[in-house]
Amino acid sequence: MNQTVIVLDFGGQYSQLIARKIRECQVYCEVLPWTAKAEEILSKNPIGLVLSGGPASVYADGAPTMDRSLLDAGIPVLGICYGCQLTVKLLGGEVKAAQADTAREYGRTETSYDADCPLFAGLPEKGISWMSHGDYVSRLPEGFQVSAATAHCPNAGIFDPARRIFGVQFHPEVRHTDNGKEMIRRFLMDVCGAEGDWVMKDFAARAVKEIREKVGDGSVLLALSGGVDSSVAAALIGKAIGERLLCIYVDHGLMRKNESEEVEAYYAAQPVRFHRIDAKDRFLKGLKGVVEPEAKRRFIGAEFIKVFSEAAETYGPAEFLAQGTIYPDVIESGAAGGHTIKSHHNVGGLPEHISFQSIVEPLRILFKDEVRALGRELGVPENIVSRQPFPGPGLAVRVIGEVTEEKLAIVREADAIFREVMAQHGLANFADQYFAVLTNMRTVGVMGDERSYQYTVALRAVTTEDFMTADFARIPYEVLEEASRRIVNEVPGASRIVYDITSKPPATVEFE
Ligand code: XMP
Repeated sequence: MNQTVIVLDFGGQYSQLIARKIRECQVYCEVLPWTAKAEEILSKNPIGLVLSGGPASVYADGAPTMDRSLLDAGIPVLGICYGCQLTVKLLGGEVKAAQADTAREYGRTETSYDADCPLFAGLPEKGISWMSHGDYVSRLPEGFQVSAATAHCPNAGIFDPARRIFGVQFHPEVRHTDNGKEMIRRFLMDVCGAEGDWVMKDFAARAVKEIREKVGDGSVLLALSGGVDSSVAAALIGKAIGERLLCIYVDHGLMRKNESEEVEAYYAAQPVRFHRIDAKDRFLKGLKGVVEPEAKRRFIGAEFIKVFSEAAETYGPAEFLAQGTIYPDVIESGAAGGHTIKSHHNVGGLPEHISFQSIVEPLRILFKDEVRALGRELGVPENIVSRQPFPGPGLAVRVIGEVTEEKLAIVREADAIFREVMAQHGLANFADQYFAVLTNMRTVGVMGDERSYQYTVALRAVTTEDFMTADFARIPYEVLEEASRRIVNEVPGASRIVYDITSKPPATVEFE
């Protein structure tokens, strides 16, 4: 059994980020909702407790709280933002709502730290921290002293050395906080006595056990896209239940060059059941005359459900539906109320009218790079694990205007050449995502001695942390030149190449 740290979630947007930082320090952690009972928390024998931030004010009606006994249990506690304010309130200190001109702080804030506090020992005494709070600690509970301060917030960090209870008003889990991870590491290692005994292999073992417990001797159906998440989910679930995992791969004819063949070849050798459904004709027929991007996405999403549901009936039954949902998907779907920029079509969660006993989502708490690490741990080949994101609607959103077989062939070849050239120059990982797009624009050129009138291919490459914002990648001109020359020479129908130099925002990563 690994040493365990519990993150108590008070509804903050960064709770899973805290968990992730703890895992980065190789400490096992579980995120529990603030409603979890003290007995449940203590039954896990935690070596430390981290209280997350949250949107409420501690004095608001029905504000999230916790069992005070958890603060008296002798377990080290780190309260972050709301977690800090709640600790102060429960221990008899005072929290106030900041007036606009006093302690309200958002964003990067110059902060000074006291090296006597174990959280900050050996770290620079000044640095930027990430603040996001309306309330602040106005009076410390007995036994506490100040450990960090900002211009507007004299109690930006507090601690009680005897009880080993720490509070910070800022967010050490956010990368904008200088040395934030080191502060968390100090809490874990120096205060809680963590040994750093957790590795991805332990996650895999635990997940396999949980899947077995949940599924019993039932079967699981997985919509496999060939992307990183569903492939790693397949490996994990396959490890847990072998042939009782049924993978369905819907080939909509909109995949990149050789992709479907590669997926099929790989799964033929895996100890799971795999079916590739060739639905190319259906999709192309349905896309005839469809020009508007959202209409394309809607059709593909809906058709996908149909094909998948039919296949599930043919090859099923299965009591469980598996999804490769990862944590950023959870955040995005939670972000209700925003405007639909693009209706992202992911295979997960779709077949509403097939009834399943339950859903299996073993990657739900992981971030993308953790999923990749897990995939490597499970022996998923590197070309799958490091695969760049590919949209559910596939090349249909990389062919501007109506999708035809002829246009798909152009974009597929151009894309393959672009990726090959990048790899040959050692730039396979230079950008986070790069691809070719067939613009709907034909232009005049001269090829041989003749006039040509053919398509313009756009190359797109972006660097990004989270795909919410992205910058165009500064690919060296000679690489672009080689890709351009090869595409024009080798791909019939393409006679002009442009490179997209817009960032997101205002553009998006994909063209449609
Ligand atoms: P955008 O174009 O919205 O893309 O800036 C951001 C990231 O999302 C990918 N993308 C999709 N992924 N289903 C997906 O699973 C979709 O419908 C979809 N549309 C865009 C895109 O490739 C980029 O990585």
